[in-house]
Amino acid sequence: MAAFDPDKEIPRHIAIIMDGNGRWAKQRDLPRREGHRAGAQSVETCLETCGEIGVEYLTLYAFSSENWKRPEAEVSALMGLLAHFLKEKTPSLMKNNIRLQVIGQWEKLPESNQRALRKTMEKTAKNDGLTLVVALSYGSREEVVGATRALMQKAIDGEIKPEDVDATIFSEHLDTAGMPDPDLLIRTSGEYRISNFLLWQISYSEIYITKDYWPDFRREHLLEAVGEYQCRQRRFGGIESD
Ligand code: IPE
Ligand code: IPE
Ligand code: MG
Repeated sequence: MAAFDPDKEIPRHIAIIMDGNGRWAKQRDLPRREGHRAGAQSVETCLETCGEIGVEYLTLYAFSSENWKRPEAEVSALMGLLAHFLKEKTPSLMKNNIRLQVIGQWEKLPESNQRALRKTMEKTAKNDGLTLVVALSYGSREEVVGATRALMQKAIDGEIKPEDVDATIFSEHLDTAGMPDPDLLIRTSGEYRISNFLLWQISYSEIYITKDYWPDFRREHLLEAVGEYQCRQRRFGGIESD
C-alpha cells in the first residue's frame, strides 16, 4: 500500500479508463445500465478528490469509438446518463470552478447531447480550476488519422512543408492540443490493455491498473493510485536521478 502524501508531487494530469461497470452490475444481478449509473457516482467523487489535491486535468474515457458496437439500448442508456450528468452537475462544476472540455468525434452523438455539451462547455469556459476532459466517441487511431489529414491539407495549401512536421506540431493537431500529457493513467477492472485511448499522449505516463470495478473506485482508491505514482521514478529515457 502506497500512502498518498499531499506534500509530494501531485500528477498534473490523470487519465482514467473507467472500466467494469457491466461486470459490477452482473455481480449483483442488475442490468448493465445500473452499473453505468453507479459509475456516475465514482465520476463525481473523483472530480471532488482531484480538485481537493490540486490535479489540473482529469481525462475520463466515457465512450469509445468502438462502443457504438454495443446494443442500442445500452448506448442510449449511456447517452441518457450523460444528459442527466450535464443537467444535474453543471451548477456544481461552476461552484467548484471546473472547466469542461470534450475530445473525440462527439459530433456523432445525438443532437441533444451535443447541445448540452456545448452549453456546459461555454458556461464553464472561464473556470480556471480543474479541467475535466471527457472522451466521447473517442478513438486514438481516429484522432491520429485526423491530425495527419489536417497536416496534409496544410501542406497541400502551402501553409507548411513536410519537413516542418515534428512531435510538437503533430501534438498541436490532436484533440488534446494545449493539454499536458497524462502523468498517470489508471485503468479499473483489471484489464491490461489501452483500448484505443490516448496512444500518442501516454508515451511516458505511469500506468496503474486495479482490479476494482469502476463503480467501486472511490476517493481512497484514487488516493492509493496517486500514492503509488508518488513512489515511481520517472526517467523519460534518462538515468536515475540522485
Ligand atoms: C465501462 O464499463 C463503461 C463503458 C465502456 C462505457 P463496461 O460497460 O465496459 O463494463 P464491462 O467491461 O463490460 O464490465
Ligand atoms: C474502454 O472500455 C472504453 C471505455 C472505458 C469508455 P471497453 O470495455 O470498451 O474496452 P474493451 O472492449 O474491454 O477493450
Ligand atoms: Mg469494459
